[in-house]
Amino acid sequence: MRDFAYVSNRHDQAGELRKMVKDNNAVKTPRLHTLAVLSGKGGVGKSNIAAGISFALADFGKRVVLIDADLGMANLDILCGVRNAKWNISHLIEGSRSLSEVLVHFRVSARAEKLNGGVALLPGGVGLREIADMEESELERFFASLSGLDETADYVIMDAGAGIHKGALSFAYAAEAVLLITTPEPTSIRDAYGVIKSLGAGAWEGSAGGNGLMLVVNMADSSREASEVAERIRLASMQFLGNAPVYLGYVLKDETVERAVRNCKIFYRSEPDSNAGICVRNLAGGVLRLCEGSSADVGSKESVPVSARSGGFKGFLRRLSKSLFSDNS
Ligand SMILES: Nc1ncnc2c1ncn2[C@@H]1O[C@H](COP(=O)(O)OP(=O)(O)O)[C@@H](O)[C@H]1O
Ligand SMILES: [Mg+2]
Repeated sequence: MRDFAYVSNRHDQAGELRKMVKDNNAVKTPRLHTLAVLSGKGGVGKSNIAAGISFALADFGKRVVLIDADLGMANLDILCGVRNAKWNISHLIEGSRSLSEVLVHFRVSARAEKLNGGVALLPGGVGLREIADMEESELERFFASLSGLDETADYVIMDAGAGIHKGALSFAYAAEAVLLITTPEPTSIRDAYGVIKSLGAGAWEGSAGGNGLMLVVNMADSSREASEVAERIRLASMQFLGNAPVYLGYVLKDETVERAVRNCKIFYRSEPDSNAGICVRNLAGGVLRLCEGSSADVGSKESVPVSARSGGFKGFLRRLSKSLFSDNS
């Protein structure tokens, strides 16, 4: 039983939604990989890292859709310099707009363009209810609007928010891989461990050797400090929970990031060769290796997911619906 088991009075309403997701699950070996970015504590750099990795993956020739799934606290549009986005997730939920109308496509680097990489943002709305509180009909419309992503994207990266609320944890259960962000601050470390504990066995369920749960240490003063932080979390996790997340890598504390945020820019776009930019490129390479088993330099088109949680975006939606309705259909 998962720690956050959804006590549902919508239990019986879930049939249609599950059927829809099941019916849609016939995609053959989809290439699309789903990543959820979350943290225990807020303000640790999730949104910057989610966006930075998206643009770095584009530089490796990947087509990325970045979803602002931090519902209620969505700010990726501002962070990415999108002014007055007309439409957002709320329009998909109410069914008034299609995905292609809502997605905001960014200009990417010359290298990304040459390799057919791209980044599009699905902006979150202001003050949206979290996904676990949505009506079934709203979820149905939302899921249906996203179902074409398997054909149009290689990666879906979700900024899933902070804390151990149902929404963030459901994204973590459903995604092929989870990037858990912490900083070296003791409070952030404690809260990251709290997320691992709340995820329980579900953190590793279906993901080979725990590869599905990956740790990123942000705002580190050095690689050594970052490794020590990761090791502390991994040791505690191994000792008390019997399994540990993979340490994916770190991002150095770099004033480039703060400067970029103040100017509504993503640091990786404005200064890709800054310390933080290089770190994010390394993280993107690690994601490629873990998700595709390929060398980051080669940019292989062969998709060999290390996680058993594959099944592209429809597989993700199936797991998300299962986790939200928490029975074993
Ligand atoms: N590597 C870094 N170096 C310096 N400052 C950073 C770094 N990463 C994040 N920050 C700072 O932390 C703030 C919060 O980052 P953000 O990505 O919005 O966090 P979250 O999404 O977790 O709330 C940013 O505005 C930025 O000033
Ligand atoms: Mg954020």
